[in-house]
Amino acid sequence: IIEIARELKSALHQYPNFPKDGILFEDFLPIFRNPDLFNKLIMAFKMHVGQSFPDQTIDYIVGLESRGFLFGPTLALALDAGFVPIRKKGKLPGETYKAEYSKEYGDDYFEIQKDSIPDGANVIIVDDILATGGSAEAAGKLVLECEANLMGFLFVMELDFLRGRDRLQAGSFTLLSGQEEGLKEGQ
Ligand code: PRP
Ligand code: MG
Repeated sequence: IIEIARELKSALHQYPNFPKDGILFEDFLPIFRNPDLFNKLIMAFKMHVGQSFPDQTIDYIVGLESRGFLFGPTLALALDAGFVPIRKKGKLPGETYKAEYSKEYGDDYFEIQKDSIPDGANVIIVDDILATGGSAEAAGKLVLECEANLMGFLFVMELDFLRGRDRLQAGSFTLLSGQEEGLKEGQ
C-alpha cells in the first residue's frame, strides 16, 4: 500500500490560493484520468479493508456528496458491496434522516434515505478528504440512525492538524496524508 500511495500522491495537482488565499488545494481528479491509477486507488482501499476486517462482510459503502461519489460506487463493486449515497439537503426523495454540519459559509445538512440500509448492516463511509470532520461526523450520525454497524471511515486525504479524526464515531484510514511520511495506521 505504501508504494501505491506514493505513486498516487505524485499524481495530485497542487493549486495554491484555491478556493481562497493561503490555502493549498490538493486536487485528486488527475487520478481518475488514468485508469491504472484509478484502479490502484480502489485496490489500495480494498487491500486495507481486507486487512482490517478479514472475517467480516462489507454490506454497504456509503459515499458523501459530491466527491465521495467519484470512487465510492467503484469501491463498493470491488468489495461486492452495495452503494448508498448521503446527499446534501433536498436532493433525496422519500423519507430521510437529516444531520446538520457546519461549513465555512454557515450550516448545511446531509440526508440519507431511511430505507436504504437495513438494521445491523456492516457499513463503511468514504469521502475524498477529512478536514474538520464535520461532514464525516454528520454522515456517521446518519448511518448510526439507520441502526447499521458503522465499521469505519476511508479517506483519500486528511488535514491532520485539524484533528477531524477525533470527532469520528469509528476508526478511520487515510490513504494519502498531507505530509510526505504521513501514511496512517495499518501500513
Ligand atoms: C469537502 C470535502 C469533504 C469535506 C471535508 O466537501 O469533499 O466532503 O469538505 O470537510 P470537513 O471535514 O471540514 O467537513 P464540500 O462540502 O466542500 O463539497 P463537495 O464534496 O461537494 O465538493
Ligand atoms: Mg465533499
